[in-house]
Order: sequence, then structure tokens, then C-alpha cells
Amino acid sequence: MSYTTVSKRDSNKPVLHDYHPAPARFQEDILVGLRKPQRQIPPKYFYDEVGSQLFDVICQLPEYYPTRTEIELLEKYGEEIAQCMGVNDILVEFGSGSSLKIRLLLDNLQPDAYLPIDISKAHLFKSAKILAKDYPQVAIHAICADYTHPLILPKNFKEGVKSGFFPGSSIGNFEPKEALQFLKQIALLLGKGSGLLIGVDLKKDADILNAAYNDSQGITAAFNLNLLKRINRELQGNFDLDSFKHNAFYNDSKGRVEMHLVSQKKQTVSIGEYIFEFQAGETMHTESSYKYSVDDFQKLAQAAGFYPKQVWVGEEALFSVHYLCL
Ligand code: AVI
Repeated sequence: MSYTTVSKRDSNKPVLHDYHPAPARFQEDILVGLRKPQRQIPPKYFYDEVGSQLFDVICQLPEYYPTRTEIELLEKYGEEIAQCMGVNDILVEFGSGSSLKIRLLLDNLQPDAYLPIDISKAHLFKSAKILAKDYPQVAIHAICADYTHPLILPKNFKEGVKSGFFPGSSIGNFEPKEALQFLKQIALLLGKGSGLLIGVDLKKDADILNAAYNDSQGITAAFNLNLLKRINRELQGNFDLDSFKHNAFYNDSKGRVEMHLVSQKKQTVSIGEYIFEFQAGETMHTESSYKYSVDDFQKLAQAAGFYPKQVWVGEEALFSVHYLCL
């Protein structure tokens, strides 16, 4: 089956589908989140252009083990994973970012089409162009969209057996109830006979987790504070960046790492015409990163209608990669 309309050999141009949410949604989510008793900012807003670049740097930090551990698993078990996934025409990646990990799968899987989905438009389109050059045989359809909301694939891709790829333990950034909803949504999108390869971070010693989210170079702090820069720029905010500090810690009872921005003093902030009063020490909760046991995650996947076929876990049991069938 072929999905391209261009000559694949010398001009494999990616097709770009832009379903980026309206800017009004950003404003509404921020205003609603900041009015909650525990102020919140949805973590998907980390990923403007600067945030996406900072996240790429985080992925290379010595303390941030998830990326390198997942890559080690994909490299070590690449052939076994491909065998387990079988022949698939269409590969769909949720939150593709720089589309680096997919390279470890493309050689072994050789799909006809690759559909990366990401909210960060510039980042997505740039990566899609590079990938299209390096993989002239694969039709690339880049979809700029908020994958946390129900999605419809472009019309040529609704039918057919698909493989989903959701690496990096981004599933951990959903509340458990939302994670279940999201997996159900993916199951519906991929359809019967399809499967999902998903990276899931594991529960472990709190010291390792605390170090991973409080790196010594302060990149995670900059990533967290960039949210305020984004609000200032896009929503006419006046957050003083020196008056808020990054704080991240493992919350054992909830099984999650929490990231917050802590007000360093009593202060008033405006976002456009809206005013917010912050007490000294008051926080905005910007991210939860849930950690699972293999067993707990498989139960969650089953509740969403998946059948856990195989799991790969690294030597120190830091991270897991699951293949789930439908
Ligand atoms: C994207 N996500 C899985 C990362 C995580 O570990 O929860 C985001 C991140 N936040 C701080 N460092 C990395």
C-alpha cells in the first residue's frame, strides 16, 4: 500500500496537517488552573519552542535516566520488538518531539507511513522534514495537534492495521483516571488488530527520582520557569521570574514526582486583565509524573481494553517498554 502523492526517491516531502488548538484555549486553561485552590498549569503548555528545546536538553542530562534507559532498551531489543509488533503499514507516534526514538524502530519495522503527532508545530515540522530525507521510502504525515484530546486521523489512514508508539513515559503525566481514558482513546483510534508500544517509568528509590527532576545544571528549573515566560509573552502576563522558584519532589503516597513553581513572596500578578494574588510559599502545580510497577501498568492497560503481550525492563529496573495488543 502506498500513502504518498510525491515521488519517494528524491523528494520525499512530508505532508503537514495543522490542527493546532486555538490560542484562546491556552488562556482559558491557564485562567481556570490558576483559580483552583491548589493552583495548576497543565504540563502540555511546557512545550513551546523554547520549552521543547529545553526538554531535549533534559533528555541528555546525566541525572535524567528515562531517555537513555528507554533508548538502551529499544536498541538492545529492537529486533525482538519488531518481531513482536509484526507487519504494520502505519506507525502513529503520540508526542513525537524530535522524532529521535522512532529511528530505532523505522529500520526494523519498515512501515509504509509514519504519522508523528505533536503540539509543538515548529519542532514537529522541522523533525518531519529531516526524517523524510533520511527515510525516503516512508510517507510522513506530520499532525500538529493536542493528542490529549480525541483525534481523527487524516482520511487515508482511518483504515488498516496500525502500530502506536508512545515513548518517554508521557503516560505518567496524566492523572491515573485520565491515563485510563487516554489509553481507551488510543485503542479506539488504532482499532482492533493494532498494538501500542509504550515506555513507562518505574517506581524506584526516591533519591534517583529527586535527582532526575532537580538536575545540577538547573535545566529542569529553566524548563519549569519557561511556562511563566510563555504566559508573559502570549497572554500579556507580568510574572517576575526571579520571584518564583522551581521545586520538584517525589510524593511517595501518590507514587508521583510533582513539579511546582513556588512564590518567593506575597505578590500580585496580572495576566491580561485578570489579577492573581500569591502568598509567600504558595505554589502552582505544573506537572505530575506518575511512576508505575510493571504489574500496575499492565492492569491499567487491560482496563483500557489492551492485552499486554510483552514487556522489556532494563538491568536496574529503572524503566519499562510494553507492547500492548488490541
Ligand atoms: C515528558 N515527560 C514524560 C517528562 C517527565 O519526566 O515527566 C517531562 C519532564 N519534566 C521534568 N523533566 C522531564
